[in-house]
Amino acid sequence: MAEQDDWILYPHTRLDNATMEERAQSFHRELDGRRTVRRFSPDPVPQSVIEACVAAGSTAPSGAHRQPWHFVAVQDPHTKTEIRHAAEAEERRNYETRFPDAWKEALEPFGTDADKPYLEVAPWLIAIFAQNSGAEGKNYYVTESVGLATGMLIAALHRAGLVCVTHTPSPMKFLKDILERPSGERAYLLLAVGHPAPGVKVPDIQRKALADVLTVK
Ligand SMILES: Cc1cc2nc3c(=O)[nH]c(=O)nc-3n(C[C@H](O)[C@H](O)[C@H](O)COP(=O)(O)O)c2cc1C
Repeated sequence: MAEQDDWILYPHTRLDNATMEERAQSFHRELDGRRTVRRFSPDPVPQSVIEACVAAGSTAPSGAHRQPWHFVAVQDPHTKTEIRHAAEAEERRNYETRFPDAWKEALEPFGTDADKPYLEVAPWLIAIFAQNSGAEGKNYYVTESVGLATGMLIAALHRAGLVCVTHTPSPMKFLKDILERPSGERAYLLLAVGHPAPGVKVPDIQRKALADVLTVK
């Protein structure tokens, strides 16, 4: 790898081990407090907060730096209603005929069904689109890149004190139609974002132990 003449200096401050340890532990504690919430307060959230969180997500690394994502932040009530109706129609078909029994059993602990009131109640929906191609031609590692941007967005929303539910209605082509996105893009995922409903409960899940997800050699 050759550094080129027009490259810029990376502004790095080296941390001592104790500070690194403290920061790493504290970030883990913060992320460990994130939970998917499925009942929202209708209280508004400033657009500027959503914009800053999306900007944070959009700093993600991406294949050949193509940044192959687009976020549509929806607060318009009519558009949210349209999205809810279209998502529920697909989900009803999923639960009634398309999901195999094993999938429905896996979903049981989460109490999910075809009704998605949060798609109207949450003050914001963020629809994420993956761009298979763009101004520079074909994009690379699109799914990986958009997944990273989405993860960083979810972390930013949590950091801002908000909650979200990751919703993956399947199929979700209706999002592209309702939100009038161009060809070359596909709907990737839908987040409902806002404050939790007072007293909301979440499933009592356990996260895998570090030893189960990490091998050190
Ligand atoms: C790709 C993906 C798709 C998901 N789809 C849905 C969904 O359609 N509906 C839903 O209620 N939760 C959905 N979830 C949320 C998961 O159920 C949730 O992340 C998981 O149960 C772990 O809970 P936690 O987020 O509170 O840690 C999805 C999560 C991911 C990452």
